Amino acid sequence: MRYINCASAGDANVMALAEGPVPSLQAGELLIRVHAAGVNRPDILQRRGLYPMPAGVNPVLGLEVAGEVVAVADGVMNHRVGDRVCALTNGGGYAEYCAVPSGQCLSIPAGVSMTQAAAIPEAFFTVWANLLQLARVQPGERVLIHGGSSGIGSTALLLGQELGWHCYATAGSDEKCQFIEDLGASALNYRAADFDQQLLALTDGVDVVLDMVGAAYLEQHLKVLNDDGRLVIIGAMGGVSSMINIMPIMLKRLTLTGSTLRARSSQQKAIIADELRQQIWPALAAGRCLPIIDSEFALADVASAHRRMESGTHMGKLVLTLR
Ligand SMILES: NC(=O)c1ccc[n+]([C@@H]2O[C@H](COP(=O)([O-])OP(=O)(O)OC[C@H]3O[C@@H](n4cnc5c(N)ncnc54)[C@H](OP(=O)(O)O)[C@@H]3O)[C@@H](O)[C@H]2O)c1
Repeated sequence: MRYINCASAGDANVMALAEGPVPSLQAGELLIRVHAAGVNRPDILQRRGLYPMPAGVNPVLGLEVAGEVVAVADGVMNHRVGDRVCALTNGGGYAEYCAVPSGQCLSIPAGVSMTQAAAIPEAFFTVWANLLQLARVQPGERVLIHGGSSGIGSTALLLGQELGWHCYATAGSDEKCQFIEDLGASALNYRAADFDQQLLALTDGVDVVLDMVGAAYLEQHLKVLNDDGRLVIIGAMGGVSSMINIMPIMLKRLTLTGSTLRARSSQQKAIIADELRQQIWPALAAGRCLPIIDSEFALADVASAHRRMESGTHMGKLVLTLR
């Protein structure tokens, strides 16, 4: 099969089409003939050699795919050959075929395209695991989402609309702020003024923060969170280390938490898949919550997709198409 090989860690030019064997299946896995694969910021970090991969995962890039099941191993009960599925992979998505534990696969609802389906797993699993399972956001709560025009941020805004949250989101340009407002949230241009001051001019605080910036924003997050607020850290684009005053944590009973999806077990990923199937898949089938696609690239043009993400000009998801 054809797949994208990274000859070494480096810039987008280290990626090239290569030929290799179709993955063999372990018990409980199924083989997907990939039609489309999502591109995510962790792929960029992995390509640069900055993402510590858990042991035993497929080192080929690609955390999410959509396609057709072409083989199933022993122990697979929920899918059959011929099913249209999308899947959270354990690596290996930038390829014509990908082997995935069946619990990490979901049937593609009628009316959802392969491109749209490939843009769902990584962001929907991440937002669900962090905002629903960890932060337990309730309808009517106020949520601050950083990077509102990113793949993760736009997904959080879509789920916020569906589940009745009051969302505020940051972005670094007026165009991205308009994108956020179109998704029903209040936009804060973090390059125009400090986001915490803008937020506190609009509201007296938020209940939850979804944070991909990390250390650089920690002190401001402790300021804008309400009593019993929850800060969920999923990225560290602004560094990992910070000196803070811990008093607000005690006085407001704050919870500071975070997670990475890739480090979770297959069982935990299957639980996230089950919850999404029950609670969000009906909305997708009804045409709501569909991921916003910024652009599509042929597999052989993967370097252009990575360059677009690194340029920071995209809004929504980037997808590689193989068929
Ligand atoms: N923990 C997990 O399980 C997990 C899983 C997937 C992704 N992630 C993380 O989630 C983040 C988003 O991933 P993605 O694939 O959606 O990438 P993406 O589309 O490239 O998004 C990156 C976003 O970060 C925003 N940003 C950068 N610096 C900022 C700052 N100082 N203040 C506010 N926003 C800032 C950018 O906003 P502007 O463009 O407006 O500047 C952009 O929207 C990444 O950090 C990624 O590593 C974590």
